[in-house]
Amino acid sequence: MKILHASAEYFPYIKMGGLADMLASLTKEQAKTEKVYVALPLIGSMGKEPNWTGKEYKAILPEDGIEETFAVSLLTKARFREADESGIKLYFFDSELFRSLDSIYGTIDEHYRFAIFSYACYALSQILQVDSFHAHDWHTAMSLALQKNSSHSIPSVFTIHNLAYQGDHPFWMTGFLKEDPFRLVTSPFDHNEKCNYMKAGILSAGKITTVSPGYKEETLREPNGFGLSYALQKRGSDYTGILNGIDTDEWNPKSDKRIFQTYSAKDWKEGKLKNKTLLYEEIGRPHLPLDAPLIGLIGRLTYQKGFPTFLQAFLERRHLPHRYVVLGSGDTETEKAFFHLSDVMPDVFYFYRGYNESLAHKIEAASDFFLMPSLFEPCGLNQMYSHVYGTIPIVSRVGGLRDTVEESMDPKFKTGIVFEPNDVSSLGYALERAKDLYFSTDRNFVVKTIMNLDWTWTKRKLEYDFIYQKAIELLQ
Ligand code: ADP
Ligand code: GLC
Repeated sequence: MKILHASAEYFPYIKMGGLADMLASLTKEQAKTEKVYVALPLIGSMGKEPNWTGKEYKAILPEDGIEETFAVSLLTKARFREADESGIKLYFFDSELFRSLDSIYGTIDEHYRFAIFSYACYALSQILQVDSFHAHDWHTAMSLALQKNSSHSIPSVFTIHNLAYQGDHPFWMTGFLKEDPFRLVTSPFDHNEKCNYMKAGILSAGKITTVSPGYKEETLREPNGFGLSYALQKRGSDYTGILNGIDTDEWNPKSDKRIFQTYSAKDWKEGKLKNKTLLYEEIGRPHLPLDAPLIGLIGRLTYQKGFPTFLQAFLERRHLPHRYVVLGSGDTETEKAFFHLSDVMPDVFYFYRGYNESLAHKIEAASDFFLMPSLFEPCGLNQMYSHVYGTIPIVSRVGGLRDTVEESMDPKFKTGIVFEPNDVSSLGYALERAKDLYFSTDRNFVVKTIMNLDWTWTKRKLEYDFIYQKAIELLQ
């Protein structure tokens, strides 16, 4: 089967969060048995120089009577440049709209850029004559409406990684959707009198998935449907939750080149101690006690991730022996609070503001616990990375976190510590339980259990195969 994915992120070329990791790891697994193509924007600062094959493809379909609108001229000047990534063909959309960007998101005209990109992805699916077209998140959702309206529709799947971002904007900005080459009927985009790409994707795709069964259930109700629960309900059994897998070549304490000392389930204690010692040296806190629990936190500092709940719980439980290393950037208020703690309590708290892939791996390897206080979490990858590194996750009971972490009473089945979202005392109590677990012999069982969990794509890839098959049947 020939599958074309359309996405704004793909590790290691463009990464802002989990979408990049999820797609790179899923396609790696798919490429073992299928022909896999990925369409991506080419931006100014890429995480890696692509391995160009020299082949190029048009980004617009030849059609009769097409008018020379602004969008048409942009697409005519653009092209897809092919690159090879271990057998996966990457198609970088080379356009003046993206070429100069340092970062993929956040420009005020992004709904326009991503409309052009979405059209180009749709065109590429037709040019490559793929069997399945798989779009991810709102950035490429419009291509599903184009696919549906086409006289040559290709079976399509839409994966929602985060319903909180919908690409909505005032309709007056989107008159171009009625013009060439889109020629779209805009009613499926209409949501509260705004133009909403996510909604059009939901209504147009053959099949829809999201990244965990738990999150799927949550999105069918408000507030986690972010206003679109009714559209998802409409799709009934066309909507499925498939838990993400992880890339255990990239995230593996036995072979990770980014960490100070590799280790396995046999020597995790020595391995972690060495990583903790050297991490404390690297961050300029060599005096921190090695026998106190270290809790790692990594992530985008946005509303979703619930860090303010943690900050409050932390202040209430100052008596606990935990040390904290935090890596992330985002909301200014949260950054300020973390900087403040790092300043006034340097013996307890360390904050690194920014994005740092190597430091993320080092924190996973050095930490005893990993905290994710999310208010909602479609899947979450760090709790699974933590398992693999023998780092016990402490998570809120939401979305993919509740599907992957269980606080069983039996230490042989316990895979982490779970608390209620947005609840300071529940989080505080979870921090207390972490201390008890750290100093008990049960910890050895828990670490052994989590390091042996299977979070690979091997089985979950088959769930996507099933969905592709169903999407194909819809068009037969
Ligand atoms: P989301 O996609 O909502 O951000 P995920 O848990 O799915 O959440 O994935 C986040 C990914 O991004 C993880 O691989 C995490 O390690 C990484 N990440 C987030 N913030 C940073 C950062 N500041 N530095 C390095 N990696 C980060
Ligand atoms: C999103 C979600 C995150 C998920 C990731 C990959 O960014 O916020 O929970 O793990 O996508 O699917």
